[in-house]
Amino acid sequence: MLIPLILSGGSGTRLWPVSRKNLPKQFLALAGKGTLFQQTIARTRQLPHVAAPIVVASEDHRFLAADQLLEAGIDDATIVLEPLARNTAPAIALGALSALQRDADATLLVLPADHLIGDTAAFVEAVKQALPLAAQGWLVTFGIRPDRPETGFGYIRRAAAIDDHGFSVGQFVEKPDLATAESYLADGGYDWNSGMFLFKAARYLEELAAHAPAMLAAVREAHAKATADLDFVRIDHDAFARVPDKSIDYAVMEKTRRAAVIPVSCAWSDIGSWSALWLTGDKDADGNLREGDTLAVDTRNSLLRSHERHLLATVGVDDLIVVTTPDATLVAHRNAAQDVKKIVEQLKAAG
Ligand code: GDD
Ligand code: MG
Repeated sequence: MLIPLILSGGSGTRLWPVSRKNLPKQFLALAGKGTLFQQTIARTRQLPHVAAPIVVASEDHRFLAADQLLEAGIDDATIVLEPLARNTAPAIALGALSALQRDADATLLVLPADHLIGDTAAFVEAVKQALPLAAQGWLVTFGIRPDRPETGFGYIRRAAAIDDHGFSVGQFVEKPDLATAESYLADGGYDWNSGMFLFKAARYLEELAAHAPAMLAAVREAHAKATADLDFVRIDHDAFARVPDKSIDYAVMEKTRRAAVIPVSCAWSDIGSWSALWLTGDKDADGNLREGDTLAVDTRNSLLRSHERHLLATVGVDDLIVVTTPDATLVAHRNAAQDVKKIVEQLKAAG
């Protein structure tokens, strides 16, 4: 049984002020039709013989997730609720345990809920190519050709071919520093980790048992103590609070000897920041990505996004990000887009 596992517990702070604690980016319509979460779910419906999805989300967003699933026509999803965020390795373990309750031989397609994929057919094809490898026990990643020395991604070195489509992973390096990322780009033998994975649920738990046994034990306890509430599976707070905070990339992918990579070219992007959104969006002749009521005079390569009935006008500026909402306005240099999260940190610290 192939089960999509949708990770939607992120907070999206770099897309402030549109992405907020109570309405993070995956639940927003930032580009394309529907929210990023709904687009992710819709893509999985193109896969052959796919089972109902498992969504792992924050308790705070339970009604957002449930409403958006219904709106997308999905009424049979399992929604697992985390009482607090412990990063992706535990979130995927919760999903794996829920999947095994449905089918001891379940295969998980792990998908972040906040990515844009322009070419769904290529994505579907890559998943089909990955299925035989997952059946053989590989932990399959989907590799994207890098076009810049991005330090926010994982890097995968391709080793020997396993079959016509996949390669074993020689090395997996999560978020290298800039000099290392530049050397990988120059080398040419490295792909970006897209953050999507395909593996048997039981195999993932075996890897956790080998590389993060304390995490696995704590997650098992938190899952065993879960309570069913309406359509939700509520994870036990106190047990989950004891789970170490670690991503799958550090906890498993950097360590496992059974990682494989399927190269995929599907117009993928991680909408992590305003500059990423600017990069992928449809820009005007001056390179401006504009949304809402905007007037751009002598303005180039900027992202201008205005909320309802608010005119946003610029003159004589380049490479700016200006985003307005009813209660907050962001002005940032396009090169500082990653630092928008510092604003959120300061706001948090100020209470
Ligand atoms: N349920 C749940 N709980 N989901 C989470 C949690 C959590 O505690 N933390 C993060 N997520 C979700 C996010 O919403 C996102 O969809 C996905 O998991 C990945 O988390 P990110 O925090 O966005 O990871 P990243 O972008 O820094 O890095 C990952 O993705 C890159 C590609 O976008 C890594 O896998 C990198 O190796 C990869 O290159
Ligand atoms: Mg991300």
